[in-house]
Amino acid sequence: MSGRTIIRGGLVITASDEIHADVLIEDGRVAALAASGTPAAGAFTAERVIDATGKYVIPGGVDAHTHMELPFGGTFASDTFETGTRAAAWGGTTTIVDFAVQSVGHTLREGLDTWHAKAEGNCAIDYAFHMIVSDVNDETLKEMDLLVEEGVTSFKQFMAYPGVFYSDDGQILRAMQRSAENGGLIMMHAENGIAIDVLVGQALARGETDPRYHGEVRRALLEAEATHRAIRLAQVAGAPLYVVHVSAMEAVAELARARDEGLPVFGETCPQYLFLSTDNLAEPDFEGAKYVCSTPLRPREHQAKLWQGLRTNDLQVVSTDHCPFCFAGQKELGRGDFSKIPNGLPGVENRMDLLHQAVVDGHLSRRRWIEIACATPARMFGLYPKKGTIAPGADADIVIYDPHAEQVMSARTHHMNVDYSAYEGKRTTGRVETVLSRGVPVITEREYTGRAGHGVFTPRSTCQYLT
Ligand code: URP
Ligand code: ZN
Ligand code: ZN
Ligand code: ZN
Repeated sequence: MSGRTIIRGGLVITASDEIHADVLIEDGRVAALAASGTPAAGAFTAERVIDATGKYVIPGGVDAHTHMELPFGGTFASDTFETGTRAAAWGGTTTIVDFAVQSVGHTLREGLDTWHAKAEGNCAIDYAFHMIVSDVNDETLKEMDLLVEEGVTSFKQFMAYPGVFYSDDGQILRAMQRSAENGGLIMMHAENGIAIDVLVGQALARGETDPRYHGEVRRALLEAEATHRAIRLAQVAGAPLYVVHVSAMEAVAELARARDEGLPVFGETCPQYLFLSTDNLAEPDFEGAKYVCSTPLRPREHQAKLWQGLRTNDLQVVSTDHCPFCFAGQKELGRGDFSKIPNGLPGVENRMDLLHQAVVDGHLSRRRWIEIACATPARMFGLYPKKGTIAPGADADIVIYDPHAEQVMSARTHHMNVDYSAYEGKRTTGRVETVLSRGVPVITEREYTGRAGHGVFTPRSTCQYLT
């Protein structure tokens, strides 16, 4: 544990307030805040003082959707917990919630143990797990209760990927009924995978093999239909529902309607859906493969509805769905057959900056930036107020952010273990300067000062967004 640190003179931004304040950190936690220049702030003493004049002082980002080392399509996501959490820190994220995977025929426990083994001792920042449930049966349902008790309180199910992660409506309903009892939160990959597979086969038979057809067959209507079905199944079960990686405006409309009815349904979108589009999927020379993820990128007109949903709180969270595959050797597995391109985009390092750019561009307020990227993901997944805010008692997971620095996103300078950037050449305003994780400097004035193994597994309570 570090001793005491003071962060002086910055603009402290949380989901609820913006104040010029000094922050006193002691034993890895926020001990006190006091308005800068007041006697109370002047009375703070510490071994280390960080001057944040002219900078923002914000809670470390909480990225509630990552896939380090995910096995997918015969290969593995290219970031390990070591490289991926280091890159996250560079981008101002101090907590990730990654997805442990139950493989069909195995138990949840086996999947969770495997993910603990991958992460333990390797992470630069704190981490937690959701559990992907691929095989709902009597045993798995019992195991869900045990996982909730040990701090793995959310479960992802897939209406897509038949034969891999897919659950049918009955399996989904049973898991939802269980979560209604044990307090777990079901996270849904909402796409009608059965119908999509028919369309994939038909497209390939017509010789439509380029990456852009990935976006065409995974129709927005099939995302909306699955979103609607998931909402109604959750309603029948009496369970809350969190829909992951929402990209279609028709799916946002389903969430908005359900919320207007008073149902506890929530939605997450990702930077790729806010900043990229089917134009990227259509890039020539197989470059479009860099942008293959599911749900897919949509035509540009969907973006305005996603920004609107974030402002009206019909969407509550922006996570990355960080799932990187190198262009060379991994994305290339799908040359001549888009259905063999491993699904996923890199982004864990880019999220805080892209969302700050959205503040600069006028899509979001500063406090809403912190709300959707830090506070709400922490509350949604039972990490608040330990994570997601700057308040006495909270972990000192704090970013000193320079709102005026300019940068250009590029694979040449990023720290993710992947050979391309989805945002290559994009100019953004704002940059992470210093990052503390439980008071320990992980990034110090744009130098990496962290270490693998500093980050620890963080058990979570159940969803705190319901009450
Ligand atoms: O394309 C994606 N999203 N890959 C990661 C797996 C998932 O469905 O979240
Ligand atoms: Zn087994
Ligand atoms: Zn998914
Ligand atoms: Zn994902």
